[in-house]
Amino acid sequence: MNPLLSTLQPYPFERLKQLFASVTPNPAYRAISLGIGEPKHATPAFIETAMLGGIKGLSGYPATGGEPALRTAMAQWVQRRYGLALDPATQVLPVNGSREALFAFAQTVIDPTQPGARPAPGRPKAGGTPSGGSDAHEVASVGAPVVVCPNPFYQIYEGAALLAGATPYYAPSDPARNFAVDWDSVPAEVWARTQLLFVCSPGNPTGAVMPLSEWQKLFDLSDRYGFVIASDECYSEIYFRDEPPLGGLEAAAKLGRSDFKNLIAFTSLSKRSNVPGLRSGFVMGDAALIKPFLLYRTYHGSAMGPVVQSASIAAWNDEAHVVDNRALYRSKFAEVTPILAEVMDVALPDAGFYLWAAVPEAFNGSDTAFSRELLALYNVVVLPGSYLARNAQGFNPGAGRIRMALVAETAECVEAARRIVQFIQSNVH
Ligand SMILES: Cc1ncc(COP(=O)(O)O)c(C=O)c1O
Repeated sequence: MNPLLSTLQPYPFERLKQLFASVTPNPAYRAISLGIGEPKHATPAFIETAMLGGIKGLSGYPATGGEPALRTAMAQWVQRRYGLALDPATQVLPVNGSREALFAFAQTVIDPTQPGARPAPGRPKAGGTPSGGSDAHEVASVGAPVVVCPNPFYQIYEGAALLAGATPYYAPSDPARNFAVDWDSVPAEVWARTQLLFVCSPGNPTGAVMPLSEWQKLFDLSDRYGFVIASDECYSEIYFRDEPPLGGLEAAAKLGRSDFKNLIAFTSLSKRSNVPGLRSGFVMGDAALIKPFLLYRTYHGSAMGPVVQSASIAAWNDEAHVVDNRALYRSKFAEVTPILAEVMDVALPDAGFYLWAAVPEAFNGSDTAFSRELLALYNVVVLPGSYLARNAQGFNPGAGRIRMALVAETAECVEAARRIVQFIQSNVH
């Protein structure tokens, strides 16, 4: 067996199952789950119908690169959304949801035989870095390659890093700065060993969107140390401010990086179009990274089926359903957030469909105790924040918080919020 499999951590929902194993939820209340971050709004009928258009294609193998019509639809969406003209042939690639792509991308990019980044062919390495030399002894003494990711984070980043033979480094999010990740806390010797950086904007679970200044910082670091940036943007279309979230490629273009050097963004239809079961998304960015990723995917056998391609073309080409979907989330968050803000430290996020709330003091900061008691007394499931983060540099930045996914109907989310208010008020001594 691959020994790296044993380094994988239990998924947050496995831990939740264990936490709740001995809890009997109060039968006086109907069960409500704010636990799993899975879209629950209805799938638009036109997307279902569009699947039929691909049925004829079932008699042949699909190309890993996807049909030109799909790549064109994706590039045209990028043009409308971000004002960027991408080459559909070289700068976009369909994937079967962003989850598999985030994982597969790490397997493509990471070189487990050396720490730090090696310049891509034809690209001189910028800045004087302590790593990347050809001296094997020096390399071995420095250790394994590093993948930097936010903390808390989407667990696939960690699993992707571990199975690629890299060591994850967790950079904490800072509640005092709208949960921005504290990239400055990452030591230079860690950056020097870094081959891949995951960023998540809008963030899961924090909902924070990275501003241009933060992108500038990360691009500077990437230029200096040569690592690749994987930008997970699967919540980009669910936002609560006037401005849509800044995309990674958009940020790069604004900063004059028109070749998107060392940058790949991951996007998905799952949340945008309420089709998590479709398994459809795409990656975009640096053509010098898309090419080897396509090669990897060809061997991995991760071509998108024609039925999914057909539905995806229809979904990317339509924006009206996305506007409606966003409006549903906006009115839901506008109702639920103030109810909860009466009793706990919680605010409307920039984007995404989570509330990331602090556990009130009466619970001694224990997100797990809060979650267990809430289920026992009020039959509401929330996810303890510590399960979404790792203990790193001496603390777990998810501890003392809970994540609430507002994916159910508004009435159900409001009902859950009212029960949480009752629960907290009855615990204030
Ligand atoms: C931060 C983040 N990235 C990626 C994904 C994967 O989404 P999908 O594979 O459906 O595109 C999720 C799903 O919940 C997520 O929360």
